[in-house]
Amino acid sequence: MKLCFVFWLLCLLLTSLTFTTFVYAAGNVTYDGRSLIIDGQRKLLISASIHYPRSVPAMWPGLVQAAKEGGVDVIETYVFWNGHELSPGNYYFGGRFDLVQFAKIQAGMHLILRIGPFVAAEWNFGGVPVWLHYIPGTVFRTYNQPFMYHMEKFTTYIVNLMKQEKLFASQGGPIILSQIENEYGYYENFYKEDGKKYALWAAKMAVSQNTSVPWIMCQQWDAPDPVIDTCNSFYCDEFTPTSPNRPKIWTENWPGWFKTFGGRDPHRPAEDVAFSVARFFQKGGSLHNYYMYHGGTNFGRTAGGPFITTSYDYDAPIDEYGLPRLPKWGHLKELHRAIKLCEHVLLNGKSVNISLAPSVEADVYTDSSGGCAAFIANVDDKTDKTVEFRNVSYHLPAWSVSILPDCKNVVFNTAKVSSQTNIIAMIPENLQQSDKGLKAFKWDVLKENPGIWGKADFVKNGFVDHINTTKDTTDYLWHTTSISIGENEEFLKKGSRPVLLIESKGHALHAFVNQEYQGTASGNGSHSPFTFKNPISLKAGKNEIALLSLTVGLQTAGPFYDFVGAGLTSVKIKGLNNKTIDLSSNVWTYKIGVQGEHLKIYQGNGLNGVNWTSTSEPPKGQALTWYKAIVDAPPGDEPVGLDMLYMGKGLAWLNGEEIGRYWPRISEFKKEDCVQECDYRGKFNPDKCDTGCGEPSQKWYHVPRSWFKPSGNVLVIFEEKGGDPTKITFVRRKVSGLCALVAKDHPSVGLLSEHENKIENNKNLPFARLTCPSNTVITAVKFASFGTPSGKCGAYLKGDCHDPNSSIVVEKACLNKNDCVIKLSEENFKTNLCSGLSTKLAVEAVCS
Ligand SMILES: *[C@@H]1O[C@H](CO)[C@@H](O)[C@H](O)[C@H]1NC(C)=O
Ligand SMILES: *[C@@H]1O[C@H](CO)[C@@H](O)[C@H](O)[C@H]1NC(C)=O
Ligand SMILES: *[C@@H]1O[C@H](CO)[C@@H](O)[C@H](O)[C@H]1NC(C)=O
Ligand SMILES: *[C@@H]1O[C@H](CO)[C@@H](O)[C@H](O)[C@H]1NC(C)=O
Ligand SMILES: *[C@@H]1O[C@H](CO)[C@@H](O)[C@H](O)[C@H]1NC(C)=O
Ligand SMILES: *[C@@H]1O[C@H](CO)[C@@H](O)[C@H](O)[C@H]1NC(C)=O
Ligand SMILES: *[C@@H]1O[C@H](CO)[C@@H](O)[C@H](O)[C@H]1NC(C)=O
Ligand SMILES: *[C@@H]1O[C@H](CO)[C@@H](O)[C@H](O)[C@H]1NC(C)=O
Ligand SMILES: *[C@@H]1O[C@H](CO)[C@@H](O)[C@H](O)[C@H]1NC(C)=O
Repeated sequence: MKLCFVFWLLCLLLTSLTFTTFVYAAGNVTYDGRSLIIDGQRKLLISASIHYPRSVPAMWPGLVQAAKEGGVDVIETYVFWNGHELSPGNYYFGGRFDLVQFAKIQAGMHLILRIGPFVAAEWNFGGVPVWLHYIPGTVFRTYNQPFMYHMEKFTTYIVNLMKQEKLFASQGGPIILSQIENEYGYYENFYKEDGKKYALWAAKMAVSQNTSVPWIMCQQWDAPDPVIDTCNSFYCDEFTPTSPNRPKIWTENWPGWFKTFGGRDPHRPAEDVAFSVARFFQKGGSLHNYYMYHGGTNFGRTAGGPFITTSYDYDAPIDEYGLPRLPKWGHLKELHRAIKLCEHVLLNGKSVNISLAPSVEADVYTDSSGGCAAFIANVDDKTDKTVEFRNVSYHLPAWSVSILPDCKNVVFNTAKVSSQTNIIAMIPENLQQSDKGLKAFKWDVLKENPGIWGKADFVKNGFVDHINTTKDTTDYLWHTTSISIGENEEFLKKGSRPVLLIESKGHALHAFVNQEYQGTASGNGSHSPFTFKNPISLKAGKNEIALLSLTVGLQTAGPFYDFVGAGLTSVKIKGLNNKTIDLSSNVWTYKIGVQGEHLKIYQGNGLNGVNWTSTSEPPKGQALTWYKAIVDAPPGDEPVGLDMLYMGKGLAWLNGEEIGRYWPRISEFKKEDCVQECDYRGKFNPDKCDTGCGEPSQKWYHVPRSWFKPSGNVLVIFEEKGGDPTKITFVRRKVSGLCALVAKDHPSVGLLSEHENKIENNKNLPFARLTCPSNTVITAVKFASFGTPSGKCGAYLKGDCHDPNSSIVVEKACLNKNDCVIKLSEENFKTNLCSGLSTKLAVEAVCS
């Protein structure tokens, strides 16, 4: 079963569920000030963003299933206009863009369709087709005929497609909500009166589509009825919709953040994500969505920019490769279970809030049938608190929420993580797995000459805007000119080198002089313009200057973002007999794209349309070089990445499928801009818990398993500035081990089955659960200590207090098992061992 590789535990399920069509009852979706009401039933919903083109169809069922397994009820996706309407009226819904297929595999869950069709989403040009920018009179996202015409046309096309496929809830399909526009409230004022008119028009246009399910507009404070305004933020507990008749909906809770080439690796701790979600439901929230639950990959040139990485991992509960990220996924699963235990009374009861101590607040929900549920929050970001609630004492870690579905027993505290942590290994595999070995492994190589290839596109005095010229059909735009250097130039005698000085609006540039590579410069995620300033080699006589300007993803949002340009604005040479020469208004010859791209030599007939040179010693450090190799699929069925650490910058394909831009650009951040240890307490921001300062911003590039054949796969790489292709390897992403750290005072949310509980007959004790990926078992217990262990997963240490039987107990419960549970019970451990100290169990185990 090809799909089984993606998820541990789920294989059996997957086999039976993968392509089962669920039958939905026709659903009547309405709302009031408390919640959505589906067929007369109030709903408290946990939703998960999974963007269909950021994975591949073969991964979709596994991702959706892992969301369901994680306690999610709703999948949420944007619709990616520029992936669907390739030119006006020319639609595409194949492959990763098969929206209908994606919508049909919801495994009994609901779907929220954020049509946009502007989406931002760190996606190229915010999802709007580039061609629309070139229809005269078009200004994106404001009141003008061409934009509104095409926006309405596409929205209607999608709505009709969904209606035709019976995908709206009213038709018995999964779609319970649709979104029009996206976070427009931030920008409306920039467009003055037209902004307001446009927002109202968009709402009215959406409602007139008669989808019979409600529409939402996120971050849109003037959304007119019946459209619901919703919240996007790291915290939305204080959000209230602008009308009391609208439910409190959180469309984007960011469990991490995106990354840029040259940027850092953002992480949001599971404790803080859980805290934010619990606070939202504590304060009357009814629908919450993780943006992203699976971030995935910006394949090809779909990444927005400038500089969004090909990885869109997002530190999400399911990682880029489709593996549950633990403990985050598991901790949130337990949170969802705890919240669902309160669902009825939250939705149907009345609430009061009680201040229990400074910074400690309980919201207590009671209903007429005697039901009671309480959320107690300690919002102090430093101090733990002990409070009395209904005559019982509760201890709350700083910045945490305890959930009491019966107003007595804490089943979950957001700061107490019991879920296991996975240890992930990236296992390298030589490209060529066959017996022939690396020596016999051949690369096909093709070098492009710097500068104009074939016929020039045009000649012009001075510069053009890069984006206006390429119209984003490619990242690349060649500019060439020549200069004459007199014999009498001092630098020729001194052997010094003049300096080439280039100013650009963005995004990156490689410079060549007389066919020789001279250097690269680029902007960064926070600042797109840049200066190139390198000494160059010039000779007496005529010199050719060839400049390759690049875009690295188009702007995704912002006022008038469609008019943000890129490309060169000034080129000078300094150090020529005391004068600087300005080449800016020279005659420049232009060529759009590079030749191999134009010939599509990465796929189909294009592969054979050029004369490759076959060699077992491919050139290293050579700019503008195409490399092709025939490779076997890495063994096993773990997800696969391509390690490009030793390459420069470029594009990669496997079997004609676009892997995307690679650029292991070193993050320019200083060590102190990253953290060793992340304190989950206190308000999160994307710079709070970063790692990766001074490290390559993206080393591994996801290559979906379904793109591989067993052998004879064609890997093609276009290297722009120079790298070492012999060091490229595939890596298999594998869960190699597990850790668990559970304290005696951890609440037990009751995630064990009745059967598992009966076995030990001590129901509500905390426990550690270890689960290896499917088809693997625990083969060794590397560490086990009940007592006062310290340290982190991978580096636990025994404390002064340690039960010497710890390893025996854990081994007995877990060795040779795929899944095991160890209760912190009297039978297992000397629970009175460390008198007065709080005790816990730490375990590290190996799966194989
Ligand atoms: C849908 O539900 C609302 C209230 O929940 C009710 O007023 C309305 O009649 C229902 N519509 C249909 C078609 O069942
Ligand atoms: C939506 O319903 C209204 C009223 O029934 C009707 O006038 C309108 O034409 C419908 N619009 C569409 C797109 O079906
Ligand atoms: C607490 O409840 C009171 C009314 O009982 C309300 O005015 C207040 O806004 C609530 N506070 C919070 C933080 O929800
Ligand atoms: C708390 O204890 C007091 C005094 O013992 C008692 O009167 C009260 O009913 C108790 N409250 C609850 C909620 O049990
Ligand atoms: C691109 O061209 C359009 C006209 O098609 C013009 O309005 C716009 O200013 C140009 N953009 C830049 C950045 O030069
Ligand atoms: C110009 O260059 C010449 C030769 O290198 C040098 O002698 C002279 O001092 C320079 N003049 C100025 C103004 O720097
Ligand atoms: C490849 O080389 C052959 C033989 O030298 C030549 O005839 C052919 O035109 C070349 N093809 C291309 C695309 O350059
Ligand atoms: C981005 O570039 C700007 C302008 O060169 C610079 O000030 C800033 O420090 C850079 N940021 C990073 C993170 O490198
Ligand atoms: C370890 O366990 C064994 C049997 O379960 C028991 O006899 C022994 O006393 C335990 N040792 C310690 C130090 O607790």
